[in-house]
Amino acid sequence: MKPSLRFFLAGFLLLILQTGLCYGIKWIALSKTSLALALNQTQHCKQLEGLVVSQVQLCRSNLELMQTIIQAAREVIKTCRKTFSDMRWNCSSIELAPNYLLDLDRGTRESAFVYALSAAAISHTIARACTTGDLPGCSCGPIPDAPMKMKKSGSQANKLMHLHNSEVGRQVLKASLEMKCKCHGVSGSCSIKTCWKGLQELRDIALDLKTKYLSATKVVHRPMGTRKYLVPKDIDIRPVKETELIYLQSSPDFCMKNEKVGSHGTQDRSAWRERENPRSQYSRQCNKTSNGSDSCDLMCCGRGYNPYMDKVVERCHCKYHWCCYVTCKKCERTVERYVCK
Ligand SMILES: *[C@@H]1O[C@H](CO)[C@@H](O)[C@H](O)[C@H]1NC(C)=O
Ligand SMILES: *[C@@H]1O[C@H](CO)[C@@H](O)[C@H](O)[C@H]1NC(C)=O
Ligand SMILES: *[C@@H]1O[C@H](CO)[C@@H](O)[C@H](O)[C@H]1NC(C)=O
Ligand SMILES: *[C@@H]1O[C@H](CO)[C@@H](O)[C@H](O)[C@H]1NC(C)=O
Repeated sequence: MKPSLRFFLAGFLLLILQTGLCYGIKWIALSKTSLALALNQTQHCKQLEGLVVSQVQLCRSNLELMQTIIQAAREVIKTCRKTFSDMRWNCSSIELAPNYLLDLDRGTRESAFVYALSAAAISHTIARACTTGDLPGCSCGPIPDAPMKMKKSGSQANKLMHLHNSEVGRQVLKASLEMKCKCHGVSGSCSIKTCWKGLQELRDIALDLKTKYLSATKVVHRPMGTRKYLVPKDIDIRPVKETELIYLQSSPDFCMKNEKVGSHGTQDRSAWRERENPRSQYSRQCNKTSNGSDSCDLMCCGRGYNPYMDKVVERCHCKYHWCCYVTCKKCERTVERYVCK
């Protein structure tokens, strides 16, 4: 790649990051789009789940962007689940898009994370598709932007919260554009060096956002002068920082199942589901040797845990054959796993 082209792409990425607006999370339902749907005709837009009328319109006029956005939706789900796999709230409910439960349908800390991640992901995926040439034209056109419901009195505050957190997501993505350099010249003497800005993995951006999730600030909607602003709830008077995630509603501890507050709980329920197989797929695991948030102590909220034996099949005794293939055997191994009482 010519340096001038690299330079152009770096500028282009920044442009996308600044213009890629997306203040909603219902579009994550696009992840359910069938892989068989070609999406090369405007009437396909009606078949997409999670789009409101105005978004179907956007889809029609940006057909070539849609596969990328669907890809972004899948990335959000995968990355969120992976990032929170060691937490009591493990992001599994994101799969319910667009009909979220209360954990993601209110101004919670969890929704703050998902808004930030999805805003980062959409810019990330488009930027990546542009740099790899998967997106012909690379127009920085409008992106699905779920309108906020403006029914309840609290919703103006929710809207402000989501706007803020989406912006945090994009800031983290922007800040993560790393400078990468490569040396040229006689036998790597580095007499000529080319540098460009490259994208970090979404997974790393998500870890950054998880840190912000853990230290998120609770805010309230308070009048200041003639307008109302979100300000930190604690007594020290300071404006909300541009770099922090904010939330309006405290979350439960996610220890026990309570649908009223959007908590699935961490209790193993396979006991009354008659020996489902494989059990591990249905139950929340804890880690007996960990001392982090996935430890049995924290995950099970002190209720204790039950061990069970699970069989894992692995490739083993692999042999390399000249040239060039590998053959393996299948070995079965029993491992002890733990589920919360
Ligand atoms: C759309 O894609 C499908 C499957 O790839 C193909 O069969 C069809 O001809 C395409 N239609 C148009 C209008 O390009
Ligand atoms: C996520 O948590 C839910 C509720 O505790 C649980 O049912 C599910 O198995 C968990 N998923 C994973 C992959 O641990
Ligand atoms: C449990 O935690 C330990 C220590 O953090 C880690 O080495 C191990 O891989 C974890 N086990 C599982 C099954 O995740
Ligand atoms: C918990 O883990 C950290 C690093 O993962 C380690 O430094 C610390 O000593 C551990 N604490 C206990 C009580 O084992």
